[in-house]
Amino acid sequence: MKTAPVIETSNQYIEFWNAVLVPKFNSWRHILAGGLHLHSAKVFPALPLHSGDRVLDIGCGWGDTAIELARRVGPVGSVVGLDCCSAFLEAGRADAAQAGLTNLTFREADVQTCKFEPVHDFCFSRFGTQFFENPVAGLRNMRSALRPGGSMTMIVWRARADNPWLTLSKEVLLRYLPAVKEDAATCGPGPFSMTEPEAVTRQLQIAGYTDARFERIDSEVLVGRDLDEAVAFQLAIGPAGEIYREAGRLAECRHGELVAALKEELKEFVRPEGVMMKSSSWMVTAQNPG
Ligand SMILES: C[S@@+](CC[C@H](N)C(=O)[O-])C[C@H]1O[C@@H](n2cnc3c(N)ncnc32)[C@H](O)[C@@H]1O
Repeated sequence: MKTAPVIETSNQYIEFWNAVLVPKFNSWRHILAGGLHLHSAKVFPALPLHSGDRVLDIGCGWGDTAIELARRVGPVGSVVGLDCCSAFLEAGRADAAQAGLTNLTFREADVQTCKFEPVHDFCFSRFGTQFFENPVAGLRNMRSALRPGGSMTMIVWRARADNPWLTLSKEVLLRYLPAVKEDAATCGPGPFSMTEPEAVTRQLQIAGYTDARFERIDSEVLVGRDLDEAVAFQLAIGPAGEIYREAGRLAECRHGELVAALKEELKEFVRPEGVMMKSSSWMVTAQNPG
């Protein structure tokens, strides 16, 4: 099932998000949402939020962090959840209505280029900014939404080696399938594009922010309620899913072998609660000096 993009865009990454990743993310929401939540749950209590603040949630996806932000700023504050995929925003609107929130709206936009008023106290993003086609331009545009003295917090994945939940299965599949071609369609620079604090600090400086700080967040995340589900998840999502998808017919022909190899590799992570694997992110904070 394909979901056509509603916003006018020539951005191939946004088209890819809508056409390819929305159906996959929606199918795997019951796994993804819980794991991503663990990373924001560790930082939410310390976010610099006040009653009445105006806040943006950049690349908000299904909007669960936008809902938490809306509760934190209270009825006199306001939150706008922004994403380039209307199907995610529809889910956010439904959940916000069910939660009875009147201070939260959702807007479909390419956050790299859309126009902002410089009136917001705080920008938040959980795993959204890593997909900016041009990180400096995207981060600069995000800063244009902040008032002088406003701040931002983004959560981004740390190094591949610290995120076996996203990388181990890729190594397994590469024993059987070719690497993804350079010209394959993708969702942008990808989940590991902001792993290096030095490079990200430089990007933030060029984008006009000051006082960039990094704090490590580690968490074991559920990748499947049992081994079968964990293997299906790995074949659908992330770097392994990309290899599987791009290999097309070859992957289908070797499906049985791939499943057996993945089960062998993932079985050591089976716990009573399901298949649990390590994940690690950075909470990055920076200020808009104005
Ligand atoms: C990994 S998901 C994270 C979603 C959500 N923040 C969460 O943590 O559950 C990345 C999100 O960024 C959005 N995104 C990617 N590029 C974008 C862009 N240029 N403008 C707006 N949203 C974008 C995607 O549609 C997707 O919802």
